Amino acid sequence: MAAGGERRYNTSMRSLLLLFLAGCTVAPASMTSTTADIHSYAEPQRVRSTHLDLELTLDFERHVAHGLVTHHLQRSEATAPFVLDTAGLTIEAVQDQTGFPVSWEQPMQSDPVLGKRLIVHLNANTERVRIRYATAPDAEAMQWLAPEQTNGGKLPFLFTQGQAILTRTWIPLQDTPAVRVTWSARIKAPNGLVTVMSASERGQDGEVATFSMKQPVPSYLIALACGDLTSRPLSGRCAVWAEPSMIELAASELAETELMVSACERLFGAYRWGRYDVLVLPPSFPFGGMENPCLTFATPTILAGDRSLVSLIAHELAHSWSGNLVTNATWRDFWLNEGFTVYLEARIMEEVFGQGRAAMEVNLGMQELAAELQTLPLADQKLHIDLTGRNPDDGMTGVPYQKGAAFLRRLEQVFGRARLDAFLQSWFDRHAFQSVTTATFVAFLQAELLAKHAAKANQIDVTQWITGTGLPGDAPVPDSELFAAVDAQLVAWRGGTPPLQLLTKDWATQMWLRFLAGLGTADKDKLAELDSAFVFTRSGNSEILCAWLVLAIRADYHAVDRRLELFLMTVGRRKFLKPLYEALLLSADGQARALAIYAKARPRYHAVSQRTLDAMLGYKTK
Ligand code: BES
Ligand code: ZN
Repeated sequence: MAAGGERRYNTSMRSLLLLFLAGCTVAPASMTSTTADIHSYAEPQRVRSTHLDLELTLDFERHVAHGLVTHHLQRSEATAPFVLDTAGLTIEAVQDQTGFPVSWEQPMQSDPVLGKRLIVHLNANTERVRIRYATAPDAEAMQWLAPEQTNGGKLPFLFTQGQAILTRTWIPLQDTPAVRVTWSARIKAPNGLVTVMSASERGQDGEVATFSMKQPVPSYLIALACGDLTSRPLSGRCAVWAEPSMIELAASELAETELMVSACERLFGAYRWGRYDVLVLPPSFPFGGMENPCLTFATPTILAGDRSLVSLIAHELAHSWSGNLVTNATWRDFWLNEGFTVYLEARIMEEVFGQGRAAMEVNLGMQELAAELQTLPLADQKLHIDLTGRNPDDGMTGVPYQKGAAFLRRLEQVFGRARLDAFLQSWFDRHAFQSVTTATFVAFLQAELLAKHAAKANQIDVTQWITGTGLPGDAPVPDSELFAAVDAQLVAWRGGTPPLQLLTKDWATQMWLRFLAGLGTADKDKLAELDSAFVFTRSGNSEILCAWLVLAIRADYHAVDRRLELFLMTVGRRKFLKPLYEALLLSADGQARALAIYAKARPRYHAVSQRTLDAMLGYKTK
């Protein structure tokens, strides 16, 4: 940091930079190796894995993967051991590149969040380390589905979910986003199943599916799925993968994918990953989407039939820039991944579907954030969150997403869209294939935007945005005429206009979501009236259905009960499960129902959703 530049910082900016610089020993923008990641045991500044070759045999009967992983090492400290992360893995043997055994050790005890370190003692000439291991049947990253949990119902299914620190449950590696590796894989699965991975190349060697990723990626982006899968091209570089029975629906729903990729390229620079494919998973997938490189994993609950929920694809695609190209170095910098991505997502939606649609989606996001902030502990309201002693998953609130995006929208408002776009392009270019901290971003922001437009810089309090709680008063929320129209109908409804006389013709999904959010604590008779007019209980749109079910549960409107149970028994997406179970827990009656349903549904949920719901419902696992 040039001392001369410092004179131009406003006071808060200077104290923020000093604060950050004090916390880092040496932190030039490109060096992330010295930044400690408290969620990994790895010591990459001493010995670092730069490439890994994976061989895996999938045993669907036992829910076990037998693995052999070879790490290529960069050794900066001659006598230092190679330290990796593992969780629940059985380590069977460790050898060097010549097949000679090398000594290794693991502690007896496993940390409940971090797992166990694996320490491999290297000889003077060790260049590569080969580890033979097996995964545990309850490995958190792997969900093994019985045939009845798939749409086809005939074949089993497996998918992995690495983010944030779950890759260590299926591959022993340096499981920190500060370490990037290129990789190759050979996967052996039972006949009749198709394997796909988050790879830049795929091939077949007899019975073995082969993959490689030529660009260095963080560990959480290594992903695999295996099941009865087929694909349909959407464009020269885009395709959709799904079970055969879902493929037509998926292909027509995602037909606009190429438009989104080209739009994002126009805005933020070339798409650098070759293909952009989407895999539509069975409904137990715990997230809406996961930005695995070259192959976004997505929930089938976005297939509404009218393409109204495709902003999720815009979001996962945007991670190809914010997240996969430029990656948060630690989980406390998660807002650099998600806040940027929510901002890019809205820009893609605006480009492809127009400003009206984008403004509605931004509004809904901000409305959700405002509601969440009412109950979120103050410490968790900061973009630069302190996750000491916690699971990084605890940081996955609306704050990194919506407050992070609002920060960029504020920068856009102050400096103008053209300048912010140029700034973001250069942020992605200059940090491509690097892992970055909040301090790196603040320094870059200072040098490339604030210092260059000093007259405007005092219109934004960067410290407040990054380390403050709540939502800064200058957070912009775009006007939405379409939402004003919905609000007018809400006023009419509250004034006694019967539902069928409300002006709801041609309302988009987002308008219905605004409407439902505005109903407040309508009683069950009111809900029954609305239901007979608009048939919400039978909606095939998962977002509308979930919002409706929450209202119904709260109002004891029992006409939804069967639909609700079916939904909870099939869908494992945590974003839906949480508010539904939460609403049930509000009454004694509902509490009993919640526990009864959960006891049946729990085995069908992914470990990530189980963890959240176990805590919420006080569910004890023996
Ligand atoms: N990368 C996230 C999912 C994630 C975050 C998984 C942290 C594990 C730990 C993904 O890009 C995401 O944000 N998904 C959202 C959808 C999005 C439209 C907000 C989701 O799944 O709800
Ligand atoms: Zn995301």
